[in-house]
Amino acid sequence: MQLFLDSTDVAQIRDLAATGLVDGVTTNPSLIAKSGRNMLEVIAEICEAVEGPVSAEVAATESQQMLAEGRKLAGVAPNVVVKVPLTREGLVATRQFTAEGIQTNVTLCFSASQALLAAKVGATYISPFIGRLDDHGADGMDLIHEIRAIYDNYGFDTEILAASIRSPTHVRDAAMAGADCATIPPEVFLSLFKHPLTEKGLDQFLKDWAKTGQSIL
Ligand code: G3P
Repeated sequence: MQLFLDSTDVAQIRDLAATGLVDGVTTNPSLIAKSGRNMLEVIAEICEAVEGPVSAEVAATESQQMLAEGRKLAGVAPNVVVKVPLTREGLVATRQFTAEGIQTNVTLCFSASQALLAAKVGATYISPFIGRLDDHGADGMDLIHEIRAIYDNYGFDTEILAASIRSPTHVRDAAMAGADCATIPPEVFLSLFKHPLTEKGLDQFLKDWAKTGQSIL
């Protein structure tokens, strides 16, 4: 399973990328706004910090304008993936991006039928929003299972990118449901390393080791 960071915090992306565990990055207009920075500059810096795909989202709502924006974003770096909202106009644009060899991430997916349409127009990634579905009283993980079944039934190679991840449990469940990737906020990513029993066990081992008076080096 590929692990992406859902962030525009370049320093934090660099820090976590140094672990070798960051396979890519996703951004969205809200994260760009939170950064307070110029979008093109931030995307260029992220693309230098990670080798993998970096999603940059169009702001237009009409397909021709989306195409113009997406082509510009794709020109920033070879690893840019153009993120497009799952609307009728967005899917028209996605189909054209696919024809031009530009990678796409179709975002704001909340139903399996939407995901089917995205695969049919050749989306590289589909982003089902798990946490927002949970917030809405549904079980977001059901959507991952449904999309996995549909894509496997027909051999679609669109990758399922579990998004709107809020917890390590979401990451585990998305992996068990067969999501190809999960995009994870940095604070959740950091929590993936941790377990209280790991900390407790290590503390005890270090105390016992100190009692031996030994040194390995
Ligand atoms: O980048 C899209 C998605 O991951 C947003 O997550 O937490 O704003 O629902 P969230």
